Amino acid sequence: MLKIAVCVSGGGTNLQAIIDAIADGRIKNTEIVRVISNKKDAYALERAAKAGIDAVAVARGDYPDKESFQDALISAVDEAAPDLVVLAGFLVVLPEKMVAKYNRRIINIHPSLIPSFCGDGFYGLRVHEAALARGVKVTGATVHFVDEGTDTGPIIKQKAVEILEGDTPEVLQKRVMEQAEWKILPATINEIAAGKIKIG
Ligand code: GAR
Repeated sequence: MLKIAVCVSGGGTNLQAIIDAIADGRIKNTEIVRVISNKKDAYALERAAKAGIDAVAVARGDYPDKESFQDALISAVDEAAPDLVVLAGFLVVLPEKMVAKYNRRIINIHPSLIPSFCGDGFYGLRVHEAALARGVKVTGATVHFVDEGTDTGPIIKQKAVEILEGDTPEVLQKRVMEQAEWKILPATINEIAAGKIKIG
């Protein structure tokens, strides 16, 4: 059984996609052992509660400095003893020591075809605003291992999504989620659980 911890910051639709895929068997042999949010009011926490999953908030504001916040974050992950950490819309730059400790055992979903529209400052809706501003005709999503850089780790899966005339960032975000993110993230976790993709 693959034990996963899922880190979130917001709405948690990718978390929901994982919960649903476990429930209907598209992800086999996997258990979400903990959901960790850096925002206390993240709707993702409610999704976890509804699914009966252990969920905790580790908010920067509750700690006197960055280091103690980062240590609390690492402890929250360590306590759950996951085999794999899934960043599903987690908008915190991971502490270097966490990346080192969980080397090749952390994956992230990013809403573009890396190396386009990624790196510092490219997250959430901003990614889609940038894609539309550049006028690209195809975008998509990427699942990758997390290394010490921002969106620089080895790519595991990508799926392309068409940009259509009249798209707004919100419309495009939804299409990328539906057609790419909610598919390739569960598919990657299932392949890791099946041993088809090797983790650290
Ligand atoms: C998703 O689109 C995810 O790819 C993106 O944030 C959104 C979270 O939505 N992540 C990044 O931009 C990371 N750089 P969700 O909370 O509904 O899953």
